[in-house]
Amino acid sequence: MTKRSPQPQYAYFKGKIVPFEQATVSIMTHALHYGTAVFGGLRGYWNDDEEQLFLFRPLEHFERLIQSASLMRIKLEKSPEELTEILRQLLQTEDIHEDCYIRPLAYKSTPTIGVRLHDIDDDFTMAAFPFGSYVEGKEETGLHVCFSAWRRVDDNAIPARGKVSGAYANSSLIKSDALLSGYDEALVLTNDGHLSEGSAANIMMVRKGTLITPPITSDLLEGITRRSIIELARDYLGLEVVERDIDRTEVYIADELFFCGTGVQIAAITQVEHRQIGTGKIGAITHRLHQTFHEAVNGRLPAYRHWLTPVYAEEPLHV
Ligand SMILES: Cc1ncc(COP(=O)(O)O)c(C=O)c1O
Repeated sequence: MTKRSPQPQYAYFKGKIVPFEQATVSIMTHALHYGTAVFGGLRGYWNDDEEQLFLFRPLEHFERLIQSASLMRIKLEKSPEELTEILRQLLQTEDIHEDCYIRPLAYKSTPTIGVRLHDIDDDFTMAAFPFGSYVEGKEETGLHVCFSAWRRVDDNAIPARGKVSGAYANSSLIKSDALLSGYDEALVLTNDGHLSEGSAANIMMVRKGTLITPPITSDLLEGITRRSIIELARDYLGLEVVERDIDRTEVYIADELFFCGTGVQIAAITQVEHRQIGTGKIGAITHRLHQTFHEAVNGRLPAYRHWLTPVYAEEPLHV
């Protein structure tokens, strides 16, 4: 199969699938000025043996998008099932036969000035494109990260468990400052100084064989990958998993550390601010979780097939 262009060719826009160039908005769009939009990020995994593109937990992703929209008073009058069906049609039109990334966006669409959320129209759009690894070249060595000087946006400032576009100004500051200082990523603390997450991924730590991750009250996005890793670790690998606050200095002495999220999937961290984590190599638990997760998302773990929705099926699946 020849690889196609990495750019989207189509988009779902104003209720239908249109050529990508036609999906444009006014420069006065409210969301563009005030960050009044919410988005999602999903992956599709191509399985060569079955010649099938599998969407990873699309219903959960769209459920979170609907919750994010509701937090921002954005009307998104579609169910997770309807959104999944639109996505399947979009991907069939795009004719993608490789791993891909999908970006749905619900936004305040009225071209108008004035900071508020009410009395403004809303719209929804979605695009998809082929997409591989987010941490290209670091799969073998692991990432070298710092603690960001920026704090994670507090849930009492912008809903942390919503994927709110405006909050990604915080993520962008965190990511660029880390990269421009020579690191691969950053760890971000809450305002009370506990570990929250990365710029756009959740964080997990291993100490003495236990998988530990900050609780969902630590100003973090309730990650669908995080939830999946917890399930796999507990039920499939039989590991102890604990959700609790993590102090900064625990990170330095962790045995293993890794990010998880749709973008990074599972990305090992082997150094924090020039301190080696564990052996300085990708740890055994991280490695096993990485392998297991990839088997699950590619449809190779029968017990987790229910996480996947096939794109190239004849009939609509959910409506
Ligand atoms: C801030 C933030 N945290 C965590 C995650 C991981 O969430 P998920 O696993 O649902 O992609 C993301 C997005 O990918 C994110 O943007």
